[in-house]
Order: sequence, then structure tokens, then C-alpha cells
Amino acid sequence: MNNFEFCVPCDILFGEGQEEHLPEKLKAYGNKILLTYGGGSIKKTGLYDKLKALLHDFEIFELGGIEPNPRVERVNDGAKLCREKGIDMILAVGGGSTIDCSKAIAAATFYEGDAWDLLTGIGQITKALPIAVVLTIAATGSEMDCAAVISNMQTNEKLLMGHPALLPKISVLNPENTFSVPAYQTASGSADMMSHIMESYFDTVDAFVPDAISEGLMRAVIKYTPIALADPEDYEARAQLMWTSSLALNGLLETGKSFMWSCHYIEHELSAYYDITHGAGLAAITPKWMRYILSDKTLDKFCDFAVNVWGITSSEDKFKLANKGIDATEDFFRRIGLPATLKEFGIDDSRFEQMAKKAVAIGHLEGAYVPLNEEDVVKILKMCLA
Ligand code: NZQ
Ligand code: ZN
Repeated sequence: MNNFEFCVPCDILFGEGQEEHLPEKLKAYGNKILLTYGGGSIKKTGLYDKLKALLHDFEIFELGGIEPNPRVERVNDGAKLCREKGIDMILAVGGGSTIDCSKAIAAATFYEGDAWDLLTGIGQITKALPIAVVLTIAATGSEMDCAAVISNMQTNEKLLMGHPALLPKISVLNPENTFSVPAYQTASGSADMMSHIMESYFDTVDAFVPDAISEGLMRAVIKYTPIALADPEDYEARAQLMWTSSLALNGLLETGKSFMWSCHYIEHELSAYYDITHGAGLAAITPKWMRYILSDKTLDKFCDFAVNVWGITSSEDKFKLANKGIDATEDFFRRIGLPATLKEFGIDDSRFEQMAKKAVAIGHLEGAYVPLNEEDVVKILKMCLA
């Protein structure tokens, strides 16, 4: 177990009706709020009207239309608006895309140049406007973490920024706000959560406590995703998934571990070139990555995964047991309706070399759980074709 610091000062308001506490909580940050949201789901569900009514005492400005895989152009638009209007706080209502775009806006407000500089490292985040969140989809964990992922489709780059100032001050997690999430997005969100948990579970450092929590959280995703898909208004299922989303990426599972990820950096390249749904891309990559890295060295961890996560108990030898765990993972993603191959996204091998080069460089994959070079990543991507 490595040394670590764990400090997550985010006020979580969990459960039905928790939006009602927002006015008293937001008051502490000022009067001018930038309300950010995506393509319009919050208007269809009535959440937009509900929040506007609740926040009638505040001066509200709006930035809607934030796209999935949020673009840097939106960040620059938002930062300009915040500076012009003297915004005190951003209220992000939506999923990872809206929240990430809002975090980037919050930081870019205090940066003179192009917001993209804050992603490439040319510019540094010094401070950020305070952010509050009303989460509408269980997936990324952005509601309780310090990261934002922004895309630049001109350069085919999808990069991450991280800074303690990006941690939301308040996050409202009302499971009812996820009842309307379509099946494909529900499943993609679950694949994303599974991947976040697995990225820290399969790590160069084994640590019993975070790994045992990880196993429990993976079992929660496996149990409750099919229930939420069968009955989108099952409160308990939506609640368990929502809390798993936050716990999967608030730093808890990485305590004492090395925090070197693999599949996410490969998937971010797919999104950067093909604009695909993040969680769905992860579902296609992860089982193939697992098969690629299974070896004598990783065998025991994969056996723990098969037994403790999937409940597979009997098998003649350890490799069979490990492979059954990987089969179960692949089968789960397929059962919840996600693509199992890149062909299903219309992706061919024409850009694999470019993507592999960037994934290895950006993700420092040579230091991952099983070190990966460009050739390894190309091989994994080729396995994902069929
Ligand atoms: O835009 P609207 O109309 O709201 O529709 C969204 C969008 O089309 C819809 N949706 C969300 N809540 C809904 C709903 N539809 C009906 N009812 C609701 N209640 O779902 C679609 C996807 O939304 P999005 O915000 O893109 O989903 P998600 O939360 O999966 O976010 C994905 C983004 O987050 C990044 C991803 O790369 C991607 O850009 N990530 C952020 C991370 C972080 N900040 O820590 C970590 C992750 O690994 C990830 O990279
Ligand atoms: Zn993710």
C-alpha cells in the first residue's frame, strides 16, 4: 500500500427532493449563476423549470447545448460569458459532458488565452469559479472528482485537466433525475463505472481495502444495471448506480495504489477521432485488453476478479477460471446492449497507429499495470475489430 492523501470536500446531497436545499447552499457563493446544460433533456423532464422556480431569487444566465464529448469552443464561449457577466458560480445540470465543460469554463474564466492551453499544459490552472452540480446520469464520477475531459475535434484530441479547484462544492444526487436516461446511455454509464473501478483494481499495487470496496462496487453495477434497464423508474436500482458512479472515481479506490490507467487512454483516442460514446467504447475495449494482458504475472488478480466479482467458483485450472471471469465481463456488456466490436461503431484499422501513438504518450502506458507500447495498443485495437 502506497502513502496517500485523501480529501474530497464535496457536499453530497443524495436522494429525492434534495434540489430543494440548493437555494440556501448556493447563497454562500453569490447571486449570479451560470446555469449550464446539454442538448435539452432537462427541459423535457421538467428539471429545468423546477430549478428555475427554486432559484428565482438568483440572477440566472444560461449556457445550453453542451454536446456529449464537450468541445473546447463551448468552454471558450462559457468563459467569455462568465467574465462579461461577472458570474459568481456555475450550476451544471447534466452528465459528465456538461459537468466537465463547466469545470473547464470555471478555470478558463481566470485564463487570458485559449482554454485549450489549460488542457495541453501551455497554460496553468490557477483558480476556478465554484461549481455546483445536479447530476442527471450515473456514469463518469465527474460530480465528485477534480477532473474534466475536453475534446478538440480540429486536432482530434481529447485531453484531461485536473486541479483541486475543479472539485464541485455541492452535488445533488437525486436518483429520480436519472429515470429518463435512455437504455443505451444507462448501459454506457455502467460500462464507464465498471471501467473506472477496474482501472484501479488492476494495478501494480494490490491493496486489500480499496480492492475489496472495488469488488463490492462492481457487483453493484452488475446487479443493478439490468434492473434499471428493465424498469427505468426503479428508484433503488437508480440510487445504487448513482452512488456507485461517485464512489468509483472520487479517489477512494485509488488510495494506496499507483493510479496508472490503461483502457481509458485507448478509448479517449476513439472518441477523439470518431466522437463515440465514452462508456460504449470502453465496453468494446476492456475485455480484449484483459485477454491481451492475462499472463502468469496477472493470473492471480484475474482469478480474484472471477471469484469475488462474478462468483465463479469451480474450474479445473487457474487460466480457465481467469478466462471465465473475462467471458463474464464480455457477456455482461453484450447483455446490457453495448457494442462488442469496433466494427459496430463503423471504426476500421486506418487510424490505429496514430491512435496508439497518442494513447501511449498521453497515458504513459509504459508504466501501466501491464506496460503497453504502441505495438501492444495496435494489437489490442485489432482484437477489438471482431
Ligand atoms: O445533452 P442532454 O440532452 O442532457 O442528453 C444527454 C446526452 O445525450 C443524455 N442524458 C443525460 N442525462 C439524461 C439524459 N437523457 C435523458 N434523461 C437524462 N436524465 O445522455 C447523453 C450523454 O450525456 P453525457 O453527459 O455525455 O454522458 P456522461 O455522463 O457519460 O459523460 C461523458 C463525458 O464525460 C467524460 C467522457 O469522456 C465524456 O466526454 N468523462 C469524464 C470524466 C471525469 N470528469 O472524471 C471521467 C470519465 O472517464 C470520462 O472520460
Ligand atoms: Zn470513464
